[in-house]
Amino acid sequence: MASAERQMSLVGFMQAGSTTVYAGSWRHPATEHGYLSASYYQKLGRTLEEGCFDMMFFDDRLAMPGIYGGSVADAVRLGARPVKLDLSIVLGVVAAATEHIGLGATYSTTYYSPFHVARTFATLDHLSGGRAAWNVVTSVNDSEAQNYGVKMHLGHDERYDRADEFLEATTGLWDTWEDGALVHDRAGGVFADPTKVHALDYEGEWFSVRGPLTVPRSPQGRPVLLQAGSSGRGRDFAARWAELLFTGDPGIDVARAHYKDQKERIAEHGRDPASVKMLPMAYTVVGESHAHAEEREQTFLNELVDPLASLTLLSELMNYDFSGLALDSPITDELIESVSGIRGLVQNLRQHIGGETVTLADLAGHRATLLQGPRFVGTATEVADQMQEWFEGDACDGFVIAATHTPGAYEDVVRLVVPELQRRELFRDRYTGHTLREHLGLARPQVVHHA
Ligand SMILES: Cc1cc2nc3c(=O)[nH]c(=O)nc-3n(C[C@H](O)[C@H](O)[C@H](O)COP(=O)(O)O)c2cc1C
Repeated sequence: MASAERQMSLVGFMQAGSTTVYAGSWRHPATEHGYLSASYYQKLGRTLEEGCFDMMFFDDRLAMPGIYGGSVADAVRLGARPVKLDLSIVLGVVAAATEHIGLGATYSTTYYSPFHVARTFATLDHLSGGRAAWNVVTSVNDSEAQNYGVKMHLGHDERYDRADEFLEATTGLWDTWEDGALVHDRAGGVFADPTKVHALDYEGEWFSVRGPLTVPRSPQGRPVLLQAGSSGRGRDFAARWAELLFTGDPGIDVARAHYKDQKERIAEHGRDPASVKMLPMAYTVVGESHAHAEEREQTFLNELVDPLASLTLLSELMNYDFSGLALDSPITDELIESVSGIRGLVQNLRQHIGGETVTLADLAGHRATLLQGPRFVGTATEVADQMQEWFEGDACDGFVIAATHTPGAYEDVVRLVVPELQRRELFRDRYTGHTLREHLGLARPQVVHHA
């Protein structure tokens, strides 16, 4: 039995579109094609809330996958994530149908502007009663650049330099209103106290923002900051800013090393490592028996996915057109060096597949989903055992759970795995707080004056 003091954080890894992280998921008979309706997202939110999840979190990409062969045709035909809805609206409708669950959305520091992002998340934080979180990403490829009038995506480290400024400006904007600024004095005719509302006057290399924000200080003080940097530069960025971190480590040993390294970096930045939770993306496939779960996973990994859909997504994430390479081409170090997208991903995949030479066909045929993370496959007890091993083995503080198909996979986790974790006292059986910061045990930030 685990001690009741330290409990897992659980987050649902959602997509506001037609496919989960399993590229062929839309073909499964139990998949609901409700992704263009508000009630679908509301139902998912309520399901996760029934399971006391800390948050439902949506990933995002600002373009269709169009790098492979220079065309979006394969992505459209094969359903390789061609649909991505606007997340602030999706989360707005979920906020109206739920009470407790945190609401996280991915917004890009490369293509949005600090004022827009600060305003969107402060608004969501108000309307949801303190449940908003922003996943800070620098974006990955040229297709996204081209939708925003830029030919080429910025270089990797330059993106993070820009993101640092972006965060300084955004957090600065959130701090332009002090608590208690709103007076609402009808008789005296004073709406708000101007001594508690400040300009920002931020001047950086990339951004210049005058402020103040047009949204008063929100219930959480600042919305929660999520991040998933995995490169050295990305980990330092996360150490400075992140309040919850997502990782994509394939095995427990890699995850342990990452956990230790990242927590040390957080301490070096003068922050309390225990206050920043690290959650690996985990694939959970639950079945009535182990064999049933295995069979289900194989359906999603192999039968439903076209290898071309894998290559389309691989090209997108790596910002590299793999269509010019023969399927038997080896994936060499030189090749990996020449890509500008998420390099660590192919390195991890190579390690995972093993053997002397890994070819493009191996990558394409290996899996229907290209993000890395542990695979917890089996009965509810077996899945809970594996989660417990990671959680108690200094490898993580909880999980971002990816679904094979929706809403079924989350219904399985909530009905079968969550009660098992609760029995072991590894997870809450009711919400004790109201805001996402309270669920996560995060302090409400004080206003910092930058002037
Ligand atoms: C669980 C998880 C979710 C992610 N979601 C997104 C996303 O929605 N959009 C995006 O552009 N990148 C996303 N990423 C990629 C990260 O933001 C980051 O670019 C990646 O982990 C590589 O790290 P690096 O940028 O430090 O090299 C995600 C990563 C993980 C592990």
